[in-house]
Amino acid sequence: MLRVLVCVSGGGTNLQAIIDAGARGELGDTGIVRVISNNPNAYALERAKNAGIDAVCVSPKEFANRADFHKALLDAINEAKPDLIVLAGFLVVVPEEVIAAYRNRIINIHPSLIPSFCGTGYYGLKVHEAALARGVKVSGATVHFVDEGTDTGPIILQKAVEVKEGDTPKVLQQRIMEEAEWKIMPEAIRLIAEGKVKIGE
Ligand code: GAR
Repeated sequence: MLRVLVCVSGGGTNLQAIIDAGARGELGDTGIVRVISNNPNAYALERAKNAGIDAVCVSPKEFANRADFHKALLDAINEAKPDLIVLAGFLVVVPEEVIAAYRNRIINIHPSLIPSFCGTGYYGLKVHEAALARGVKVSGATVHFVDEGTDTGPIILQKAVEVKEGDTPKVLQQRIMEEAEWKIMPEAIRLIAEGKVKIGE
């Protein structure tokens, strides 16, 4: 079984899409072994508990400094012995020690077609505000491996979504979630579980 650990910060609709795909038998031999949130109020924690998944909060506010937070995060990850870490709306910059310990075993969902509207400062609604301000006619979502950069790792899957006249950032965000994110994130996990994703040299 591919042991999947999901990191979240907010509403957890991507987490829900993964849980639901697993329940429908679409993720191959996969199990979500733990959900970690940096935010104690994240609704994603409730979604995990409702699905009977071990859910823990590791909040930076509980620690005297960033280094202690990073160590606690790595400990909470290591405890679950994951084969794959999925960042599903995790709004914390992943510490280098975590990236080094789980190289090529961390994936992220980003709500645009990378390399557009990504990198430092582009997260959540800000991505869609920037896309609308630029006037793009197509946006979408990307699942990629996580490396030391921000949204710079190898791309696994992308799906384009139409931008419509009169879209607000929230309307566009919702369409991209429904038409792209909730599909390509479970799909990427299934491909990894089936051994179909390889990183080239
Ligand atoms: C999603 O749209 C995800 O793509 C985005 O945060 C949202 C989380 O929603 N992630 C980023 O912006 C990462 N840079 P959710 O908690 O409902 O899954």
